Amino acid sequence: MPRGVKTDVRTYQMYINSEWVDSKSNKTFAVYDPATEEVIAQVPDANTDDVNGAVAAARAAFDDGSWATSTAQERGRVLFRVAEKIRQNAAMLAELESRNTGKPIVEAEFDINDVATCYEYYGGLATKVLGFVNPVPDNAVSLTLKEPIGVAGQIIPWNYPLLMAAWKLAPALAAGCTCILKPAEQTPLTVLEMANWLADVGLPPGVVNIVTGFGETCGAPLVQHPDVNKIAFTGSAAVGKIIVKQAADTVKRVTLELGGKSPNIFFADADFEAAIDGALFGVFINQGEVCSAGSRILVQKSIYKKFVDAMAEKAKKIKLGAPLDRDTKMGPLVSKEQYERVRSYQEVGKKEAKLATGGGRAEKFAKGYYVEPTIFYDLDNSARIAREEIFGPVAAVIPFEDEKDAVKIANDSPYGLAAAVWTRDIFKAFRTVKSLRAGIVWVNHMQPTYVEAPWGGYKQSGFGRELGPWGIEEYLETKQVYINLNEAPIGWY
Ligand code: NAI
Ligand code: MG
Repeated sequence: MPRGVKTDVRTYQMYINSEWVDSKSNKTFAVYDPATEEVIAQVPDANTDDVNGAVAAARAAFDDGSWATSTAQERGRVLFRVAEKIRQNAAMLAELESRNTGKPIVEAEFDINDVATCYEYYGGLATKVLGFVNPVPDNAVSLTLKEPIGVAGQIIPWNYPLLMAAWKLAPALAAGCTCILKPAEQTPLTVLEMANWLADVGLPPGVVNIVTGFGETCGAPLVQHPDVNKIAFTGSAAVGKIIVKQAADTVKRVTLELGGKSPNIFFADADFEAAIDGALFGVFINQGEVCSAGSRILVQKSIYKKFVDAMAEKAKKIKLGAPLDRDTKMGPLVSKEQYERVRSYQEVGKKEAKLATGGGRAEKFAKGYYVEPTIFYDLDNSARIAREEIFGPVAAVIPFEDEKDAVKIANDSPYGLAAAVWTRDIFKAFRTVKSLRAGIVWVNHMQPTYVEAPWGGYKQSGFGRELGPWGIEEYLETKQVYINLNEAPIGWY
């Protein structure tokens, strides 16, 4: 049994200052398996007191300087060892991730591999953070130094739990920051398992702290804490707006990734079979619980009806099943709350559009938060199901006339996280790419995500970028240093 797990009913503790602790109130909350609706664990219900302790530990660990001034090589090696532990325990982590989120085991295995890759990437990048010599017109050396931002508060969602933790922890640690990570209340388990190895890989006490709790009682005190220098958040736009306001009082650095209503655009000249596959993959992968889900499918009028029919026919064959079954292509939604939200949007859609397939609960399952892959059509972009993030397997297929019309509809959204365009015409593809107001644009694909390439949104999808060198930059401050080389006094007065 891993450290931090007290009994075989899996009551977890949380990880603060390299110690496994209960919440100060001794309260816990239940964590569920969304396929069986059964409780699978209890975790500490942390509140302000616990957050204060975690921040004090992270602050002390940063201020004593041993992590921030450790060599980049040392920090890199720690991250490589984290990656090694993830790879050695990949099967256990994938299974737990699948059980707790409801995502198919095969997808969870991809995620866990990406987790390890993320730590490896930033382990390597730690030693590539470069300063600069500024060409000032004087007898002086002017330098730009990069330094860690300090204590980072990191608040993550439930759709890719261990991967979202990696996107936040890996660059922060490479930069020399110390961290307080708050996993989503629905899915804290894989992060807690990972914490078992943090001391073994050589992280000093207080460098990474995990607090488990709810948004308002555990996330908000982290955002408001004066000793936290930066908040990195992934989640809903509603909470992102609250965070920006609450962070203002202490002028915290904030980065936000807030999801979207991403258009997946299909021109009539696209390869039809690849297009149908790409439309389904774009919106239904991970049960549609994806920030970059291609949930607005824009299709050129000349192929519209044929497209909707082909999509619906294939969607009906998507294999829903138990998350741990290797044939399963779609599992249950993560929670009762998310299930109810998605079900309500299915009902909204029935009033706003025509239904091509799905539209309800997947009734063949006696238990579990299963919904049918759902496709609506014959609607325009003003419908609620075309404007609001649903975060479930619900697609809105919208017709367009021509290139200009497609771009206009695509950009008519408060969000701007991602977009995709399908065509065989390279000129049309690139014209469209340049016109789209989105942080990530795919051509003839949708969803591939790489640690080497930037991730983040335009407009209300947030600001700041994760991954690649952009990701570490968000955890660095810039210090200007001026070294006078004139030995004589300034001589002004
Ligand atoms: P949420 O935004 O409430 O939760 C995300 C994280 O923020 C969790 O760790 C939560 O505990 C924390 N949080 C919540 N309120 C907070 C507060 N006041 N201060 C600090 N932290 C807080 O997302 P929720 O309620 O789970 O899902 C609602 C909708 O949000 C989904 O239907 C989806 O549309 C969107 N969402 C988007 C995600 C993305 O990847 N961009 C991920 C999760 C949800
Ligand atoms: Mg919420």
